[in-house]
Amino acid sequence: KPLKIAVIPGDGIGIEVMDEALKVIEVLKTLDPNLQIENTVFPWNSEYYLTHGEMMPKDGLTTLQQYDAILFGAIGDKRVPDEVTIWELIMPIRKQFQQYVNFRPVKSLPGIASPLSRRKNIDFVIYRENAEGEYSNSGGRMFNGEQRELAVQNTVMTRTGIESLVRAACEYAVEHSKTKITSATKSNVIFHSMKLWDEHTSAIVNNEYPQLSLESYYIDALVAYFVERPESFEVVVASNLFGDILSDLGSALVGGLGLSPSANINPEGQYPSMFEPVHGSAPDIAGKGIANPIAQIWSLALMLDHLGRKDLAKIIVDSIVLVLQKGDVKTADIGGTSSTKQMGEAICEQMKKL
Ligand code: NAI
Ligand code: MG
Repeated sequence: KPLKIAVIPGDGIGIEVMDEALKVIEVLKTLDPNLQIENTVFPWNSEYYLTHGEMMPKDGLTTLQQYDAILFGAIGDKRVPDEVTIWELIMPIRKQFQQYVNFRPVKSLPGIASPLSRRKNIDFVIYRENAEGEYSNSGGRMFNGEQRELAVQNTVMTRTGIESLVRAACEYAVEHSKTKITSATKSNVIFHSMKLWDEHTSAIVNNEYPQLSLESYYIDALVAYFVERPESFEVVVASNLFGDILSDLGSALVGGLGLSPSANINPEGQYPSMFEPVHGSAPDIAGKGIANPIAQIWSLALMLDHLGRKDLAKIIVDSIVLVLQKGDVKTADIGGTSSTKQMGEAICEQMKKL
């Protein structure tokens, strides 16, 4: 049965790096003649918005639902407010398709100098809650004279939300022979929502996964440990806000945005999951052909892994590692002068040699 992939390149460098990911798909087809991947490219971006007055057609989500997965580039253009591009395209996809897990691998790569860490054996993953928590629209502002102006933004945590996220992380841990879950908390101060987080996190790990151990740190301490001993983590679970911050720190620990993939997963598989680089449309370098396509190509690997083709995912990731190890092809963000196309080409050539 062919894998049906919805491809949304988006804006700016999203379009440039997606081109390279699509070339990688073509190489995969030559490596495995039985592989059937049908890509459909959807031009839903800021240009589309300026022409049609909406980021995607009214039935856009219904259309996407017919696909096995969504490969996303990046969105953002200074002619359209960021809250429009994000809240009318990315957020509806994440919410409608119940992609409540945001998964980000953090792994040391050869030949990459990180300004934050010289550790060479970093290899952990972050499971960030992606649908509730601190990023809720519950609250409001009140203006009652300058001295009394106030704003309230409520955190919404549910037992089901916490349990589902933690269970997904534990399943990953077991499947990948990991032994430890690290939980980010702040229940000493935020004692309603974060205590619920602590209680159900420990219940799931301790009762359902006796083979896994659980450590729990306050978020302020944990960010320091991320920098001091990043190699000691295996699987990190975190709420929406804490996970967002830890993810960007994780990315910086191993060399930056050009190398960082992510997955928005609906673990039940009832809806398509979405795979995208962590970075945005990078207007400062868009159109120059110098963006690093690795984050996008690695996101494709996460997609194939999710769709049950771990063998193909491994070919892609191994090729990325080998190209970086050789070091003669490097984009500007990692200290080289190669173009987006040269990097994409180098990875494709390496794949053919594996
Ligand atoms: P950004 O990630 O686009 O860029 C941050 C910095 O990293 C820039 O200096 C950029 O040149 C560099 N960079 C990013 N990706 C790179 C790559 N692959 N290769 C080399 N350098 C790279 O974040 P920024 O500037 O905050 O946002 C720009 C636009 O992207 C905004 O409109 C924002 O809303 C949007 N955005 C969209 C996201 C998405 O589509 N999921 C995520 C983050 C931002
Ligand atoms: Mg972020």
